[in-house]
Amino acid sequence: MKISMDNDCHKSLTSLVKRLFETYRTSHNKTRFQPFSSDSFFMETEQYNWKTGNQNETWYANEKFSSKYLQEEFSMIVTTAGRTNQLLIEEAYKISKDLQSIYIDRKKRTVCELIKELNQDILVVGKNRMELHLQNSEHPLFFHPNSASFRYKRLIKGESDPFLNACKLMKGDTLVDCTLGLGSDAIIASFIAGKDGQVIGVEGNSLLAYIVKKGLCTWKTEDDHFNYAMKRIKVVTNNHLSVLKGMGTNTADIVYFDPMFEKGILTSNGIAPLRNLAVFDELTEEAITEALRVARKRIVLKDHWQSKKFSKFGFDVLKRKTAKFHFGVIELSKQGKSNKMEV
Ligand SMILES: C[S@@+](CC[C@H](N)C(=O)[O-])C[C@H]1O[C@@H](n2cnc3c(N)ncnc32)[C@H](O)[C@@H]1O
Repeated sequence: MKISMDNDCHKSLTSLVKRLFETYRTSHNKTRFQPFSSDSFFMETEQYNWKTGNQNETWYANEKFSSKYLQEEFSMIVTTAGRTNQLLIEEAYKISKDLQSIYIDRKKRTVCELIKELNQDILVVGKNRMELHLQNSEHPLFFHPNSASFRYKRLIKGESDPFLNACKLMKGDTLVDCTLGLGSDAIIASFIAGKDGQVIGVEGNSLLAYIVKKGLCTWKTEDDHFNYAMKRIKVVTNNHLSVLKGMGTNTADIVYFDPMFEKGILTSNGIAPLRNLAVFDELTEEAITEALRVARKRIVLKDHWQSKKFSKFGFDVLKRKTAKFHFGVIELSKQGKSNKMEV
């Protein structure tokens, strides 16, 4: 079936746009949706072969016209950075599919213009990183191993790291990081655990998990040890309770929790964009019980220095004089659990 935009343009614009997205939605796998080239745009399915010339103007009009439709169907739009090329467009398109979102050509619009026009969060795919621009956030969220590389350099110089001190992590250990966030703790743990160990990073927000997983695999520093530490982390997108429940007894050495501090207690620029996306679930008794079952050596909790969770769940607090957060540890040997598999 062929529809000519010249003949039917205004009258059929609504149905065309609806059909375009409905077809895209309902026959996702069978649909070839190719917004790549600058002068043509076409889509093929088993039912339709829809094609127009002169697409730049038309698609832009459609896009505006259908922004209400886009809002109902998708929670986010994927586009490229301003300076783009075919490879980047293809990458952004692939990411939009991974996230069951939709790709839209940037067309020299600023991110603010796109957000205003489409009323959507925008994921911008650039050459070196992805940036998530949320409608309700001033700053974009992106993966960057900034704080981990800073901590890594201090480790190399022989300085200590409070997180590692609390975890007493050793080469070859398995650590389950139940609150991956931007992955700073997980990277440091992965470096120490080494290639014979394993760090599993669990993140409850799927978009954040996707951005961090991509970042961990693709970010390159000049230090290969650091790059491998990032790459080795296994990212799992799920609620940590479900993940822990699915794990066998004594299958990890350390289980670590670093939940979000209650809103309003602490604000730092680095974590500000994360706060708009993060899961703010209360740490539950059930999760602690599961962690105690899964861990062989200890479970560790990082929380605000005034947190009542340490005493509630029986953690010994490693107090640090001027720090805004402390680490709490439950040593499993104290509870009569051996470091080896139970017999
Ligand atoms: C404070 S951040 C962790 C920061 C991290 N330790 C780092 O070094 O970057 C907490 C993260 O845990 C996630 N989270 C909170 N509760 C969770 C849950 N029940 N399951 C999985 N992830 C959770 C949040 O979405 C957030 O990204």
